[in-house]
Amino acid sequence: MPYEEASLPDDPIWYKDVIIYELHVRAFYDSNADGVGDFKGLIEKLDYIENLGVTAIWLLPFYPSPLKDDGYDIANYFGVHPDYGLLRDFKEFIKEAHRRGIRVITELVLNHTSDRHPWFQLARKAKPGSAMRNFYVWSDTPEMYKEARIIFKDFEASNWTWDTEAKAYYWHRFFSHQPDLNYNNPLVRKKIMRVINYWLDMGVDGFRLDAVSYLFEKEGTNCEGLPETHTFLKELRSYIDSKFKNKMLLAEANQWPEDAIAYFGNRDECNMAFHFPLMPRLFMAMWMEDRFPIVDILEQTPSMPDTCQWAFFLRNHDELTLEMVSDEEKDYMYRVYAKDYVARINLGIRRRLAPLLGNNRRKVEIMNILLFSLPGTPIIYYGDEIGMGDNYHLGDRNGVRTPMQWNVDRNGGFSRANPQKLYLPLILDPEFHYESINVENQEKNQASLLWWMRRVIAMRKRFKAFGRGTIEFLLPDNPKVLAFTRQYKEEIVLVVINLSRFSQAVELDLSKFSGYLPVEIFSGNKFPVIKEVPYLLTLGHYDYFWFALKKEEAVRFGKIRTIPEISGIWKTIFTGKTKEIFEREIK
Ligand code: NOJ
Repeated sequence: MPYEEASLPDDPIWYKDVIIYELHVRAFYDSNADGVGDFKGLIEKLDYIENLGVTAIWLLPFYPSPLKDDGYDIANYFGVHPDYGLLRDFKEFIKEAHRRGIRVITELVLNHTSDRHPWFQLARKAKPGSAMRNFYVWSDTPEMYKEARIIFKDFEASNWTWDTEAKAYYWHRFFSHQPDLNYNNPLVRKKIMRVINYWLDMGVDGFRLDAVSYLFEKEGTNCEGLPETHTFLKELRSYIDSKFKNKMLLAEANQWPEDAIAYFGNRDECNMAFHFPLMPRLFMAMWMEDRFPIVDILEQTPSMPDTCQWAFFLRNHDELTLEMVSDEEKDYMYRVYAKDYVARINLGIRRRLAPLLGNNRRKVEIMNILLFSLPGTPIIYYGDEIGMGDNYHLGDRNGVRTPMQWNVDRNGGFSRANPQKLYLPLILDPEFHYESINVENQEKNQASLLWWMRRVIAMRKRFKAFGRGTIEFLLPDNPKVLAFTRQYKEEIVLVVINLSRFSQAVELDLSKFSGYLPVEIFSGNKFPVIKEVPYLLTLGHYDYFWFALKKEEAVRFGKIRTIPEISGIWKTIFTGKTKEIFEREIK
């Protein structure tokens, strides 16, 4: 949709300020009682999403697919899975989201297709060496590219699978039903450009580039993030920029920051990339009650072009991946967060946020405060805003993909279908049962997590420093306290977080802000003016502060105290002489 028609600001770096809500259409709301969420249902629930305050929706794959990998196995790039509605419904969804000022990010699964995709069906029958055959990567032996790791190691023993029709092995980085496309074939690249064109033309604002590091293969390498991938991304970016305005590309590359940064290119590849290694370190810091893992990884994170941005998340639709931690850290994470072996899958832990944190409300708050304060764009996984539970007995990663819990009605208000017909069962664990953890209950209670999330999101949106600012760590002696400033132009925010289950005192060296006044952001309460000497703060267990540091305010505060005593009744206090005094002082 052109910008003139939508209520979206014409801003090329909008992704720096947004708050993203990740959801699967099938999990959100079922409008036609068939047991599966759909676009019509999602449109009905857009008010809820808008009220949460988020400003972008990331939609998990909704294309026609045999759904053996939750839609990441695409059988047709140009349609909507019939269970989720019609293309018309999707267009209506985009229009309705844009009308509310919400951007839409979709999945571009470009590395592989389903083996049901007509391209694969044609390729396996085509003559070896022909352009059609070469839509995918074939070999007579499973010996090539031995250095490429196996990602779904609980499910696959090799990255090659024998195809009886083609009488050859085909290459796949994920499930064997997901053959990898061959990006050395110019026809493949051309087709993918058509896909991009199709969805961007329809009004999609950006793509998450699924599995983007695996597009090319080369003998003797680990087949990840090869130079050819970056050349292709530059091509893709320049194609998009030549035809569209303000479109965003987000790289899904589970790599170390110094490697992930390559996906920004020289501002000519992706605009955003996930910061994978930060996420497990947030959980480590919480358990260790020590800021080290967070500070360490962010200090190792190279700076990036100023139009680019990290994407942060606490949990998502996949397992909590432990690929980006050392073996020792992995053991630690498993020991403390997945004592039950069934909760482990591949190289990670298949659990949602609240259960991982022992359903401890204060820990959930601290983790979200970290998500919203560190230098990147935050992504909230649907249901985590109400503290939904999981069910890791459901197989694969389905335990974190269960229906959204709206109320106490049948199927948690998600669907009017026979409960046996649902695409996945509701959460029945007594601690997280949909009868207690649901939107309606939390709407009614202003102390609920949902209301807390709304308040924090609203506050974050008032400060550009969170999305765009620099970060500077203050490293006080007390390691249980994480403190840093975020600064964008004149705006300075001081963040102080107690990672410990006990109260803590901390002395911060804020001498460079001497004369500034910390104003606590949620209450507007003024704290003592900062001086050259260490600034003492005390924090309760799992406690946090967001302060706006205001120079002017400090001055004003000083002045206001010198106002001559004002007397009179309230009704008249803002009239006449006293009004003049106030106006003069407050200007
Ligand atoms: C990454 C996605 O996040 C995951 O859910 C999927 O299974 C793989 N890509 C393969 O498409």
